[in-house]
Amino acid sequence: MKALILAGGKGTRLRPITFSMAKQLVPVANKPVLFYGLEAIAAAGIRQVGIIVGDTAAEIQRAVGDGSRWGVEVTYIPQPEPLGLAHAVLTAEPYLRDEPFIMYLGDNIVTSSVKPLIEAFEQRKPNALILLAKVPNPQEFGVAELQGERVVRLIEKPKQPPSNLALVGVYLFDPHIFEAARAIKPSWRGELEITDAIQYLIDNGYTVEWQQITGWWKDTGSLDALLEANRLVLEDLRPANAGTLEETQLHGRVAIGAGSILKRCTVRGPAIIGANCYLEDCYIGSFTSIGDGVRLVSCEVEYSIILEGSVVEQVETRIEGSLLGKNVVVRGGAKRPRTMRLMLGDSSLVETP
Ligand code: DAU
Repeated sequence: MKALILAGGKGTRLRPITFSMAKQLVPVANKPVLFYGLEAIAAAGIRQVGIIVGDTAAEIQRAVGDGSRWGVEVTYIPQPEPLGLAHAVLTAEPYLRDEPFIMYLGDNIVTSSVKPLIEAFEQRKPNALILLAKVPNPQEFGVAELQGERVVRLIEKPKQPPSNLALVGVYLFDPHIFEAARAIKPSWRGELEITDAIQYLIDNGYTVEWQQITGWWKDTGSLDALLEANRLVLEDLRPANAGTLEETQLHGRVAIGAGSILKRCTVRGPAIIGANCYLEDCYIGSFTSIGDGVRLVSCEVEYSIILEGSVVEQVETRIEGSLLGKNVVVRGGAKRPRTMRLMLGDSSLVETP
């Protein structure tokens, strides 16, 4: 069995971060989202991995390389335009050919192993096997309608969801999915939807099985979901300190990378601090991920992700629920009158709750 990872697309909901980086490479607990999928696939024993790439192909290739780090052989498959998940499947047809495959959306993180899914698929040989998860916001996903134990209908981002069962971004298909993807028409959002292709399979008498996900799953395509994914991954953080601490207190599980210096700080885990960071007079609260080479002086950060090379200095208000891109500078001051001087990129967001 081969794997197909989808790492093309646009990432509009994570702008401005995704103006300069692929959404699949935004780090969760200091590791790019895409790597979680690659690890899951490699752990399931799959060796041949096709990765769909779009505008950010060069960046994805730089990060993933030939896949040898995970013991897999990666083939990059350029998709000229992000015309939908089913379009990505068709783009990969010459690579996948007549073999069954597992499709993994590059912005999804699933904690449970995908191996039992592959085994179930190989034993029972349905034409498709989908994963479903109960969610509080089904209108943001593909949604399944069940009749008894059977999936009868799949709808992409319905205004009135027929259930709270969302389609998780992990699917198993046999080659009939190509016939289905060729038969469907673009949706209202102009995409060839994988939900419509699976609906075609159902309507044409093919077997579509489903399983409810065990463990947790996150689509990291929006800020809230990304922060939640960061929280969930950090829940399992293993503490490790390779940095230098001066008058600093660590509470709970904290990981600190080599070359980092913390002076007069309090860190309440779970939290991860990368390598070569400098922190002075800071409070770092739970569920915070700080990338390499970050400088934090006289500030408080909680439930946030700060990417490499950023600087936060002399900021009185606690930074919470935030995502700071690479090399961002946030600098406060004590001067009166209190003013704000901003230089923000397109689609930046500044909020005072
Ligand atoms: O996360 C699960 C959801 O993923 C499902 O519930 C939906 O049924 C499914 O359509 C999908 O919805 P999204 O709108 O979240 O998909 P998104 O556009 O974010 O694309 C998912 C991944 O596939 C992402 O890594 C980008 C990549 N992609 C997307 C498109 C449209 C491609 O590689 N090529 C594409 O043409």
